[in-house]
Amino acid sequence: MAHATDTTGTEPTRRDFLMLTTGAFGAVGVGALVVPLVSQLAPDAQVVAAGAPIDLDLAPIAEGQAIKLFWRGKLIFVRNRTKKEIDEALAVDIATLRDPQTDQQRTKAGHEKYLVVYGSCTHLGCVPLGSSPGEPKGEFDGWFCPCHGSHYDSSGRIRKGPAPLNLPVPPYAFTADTKIKIG
Ligand code: FES
Repeated sequence: MAHATDTTGTEPTRRDFLMLTTGAFGAVGVGALVVPLVSQLAPDAQVVAAGAPIDLDLAPIAEGQAIKLFWRGKLIFVRNRTKKEIDEALAVDIATLRDPQTDQQRTKAGHEKYLVVYGSCTHLGCVPLGSSPGEPKGEFDGWFCPCHGSHYDSSGRIRKGPAPLNLPVPPYAFTADTKIKIG
């Protein structure tokens, strides 16, 4: 079993694949354990390296919190949105948006509280802040990219700053009420 200090050896460090950003515990993968740190939680490294779909249990993500994980080498944010964040996202007139998309187009029906997006700013690829406790979420309760000042809203849509596009939504589907498969 890999553990957090394992940085060498035959098995890549599993912390590379999932970073919990809250006090909540997370669980990923088949038969995953719920533990406070993430090193044991990520899918098998070989599975990830192969680009296979990964299963993610969202139940440990408390409302208002988010996790980060890597899939196919790309950072992904998963946020359990508050009612306020959802209401703000729904209230936006998409005609005012640079990259017009409704919140419904960016979430799954019946699971609107969860938002799943790639964690790479669409300007020049910095990692936006807003997934970890204490980080600024920007002016629209989403994410803030400090590199050049892009603000994303609580649906991950670009609202202010130089980024041209919304944070993309990766391919995923719900397999149970609080479980998704990414890929
Ligand atoms: S890379 Fe995010 S604003 Fe430039």
